[in-house]
Amino acid sequence: MIRKLSALGLVAALTSFVALPALSQEAAVKARQGQFNLYAFNLGVLAGMAQGNVEYDAEAAQTAADNLFHLTRVDQIAMWPQGSDSASIEGTRALPAIWEDLEGFVSRYNALQTAAEAMQGAAGTDLAALQGALGGLAGTCQACHQQFRQAQ
Ligand code: HEC
Repeated sequence: MIRKLSALGLVAALTSFVALPALSQEAAVKARQGQFNLYAFNLGVLAGMAQGNVEYDAEAAQTAADNLFHLTRVDQIAMWPQGSDSASIEGTRALPAIWEDLEGFVSRYNALQTAAEAMQGAAGTDLAALQGALGGLAGTCQACHQQFRQAQ
């Protein structure tokens, strides 16, 4: 059985975090931004094929979808310490709303995990299946950004 990030577990862990020294905050921000860039890279491979910019390749599509699936299973708890929000430190776009509504944030994250699983089941089948799963997946990125990421 696939281990899903337990919403309550993450909330409990996040709220029990004490403020970390500046260097650790910076490391945590870098780590989560790195994680998001890995999402974006793999999503880009899938989107390129869906939009016809790159020829559909079942193996490459499956690899990108597998990567995304596993990346969304990385335990991120330590990357979101209290006080690492955009109102408190430089270099992050993570809104304070995340720590004010941890359950909402976790539920957005769980939606991404579910959509990544659907893509994993679709990407290697054929182009139509990949296209069918892409909107739902990209929509989970966008929904969280709208609510919890500072606009540029
Ligand atoms: C649960 C919420 C959530 C989900 C889901 C989510 N993001 Fe994000 N994303 C954020 C937040 C918050 C930030 C700002 C992080 C920071 O600057 O500390 C961010 C930042 C980013 C960044 C900028 C990273 C940088 O270098 O500063 C990219 C790119 C990104 N997300 C892509 C994605 C993609 C692609 C997906 C979907 C596959 C996704 N995100 C899903 C919340 C989310």
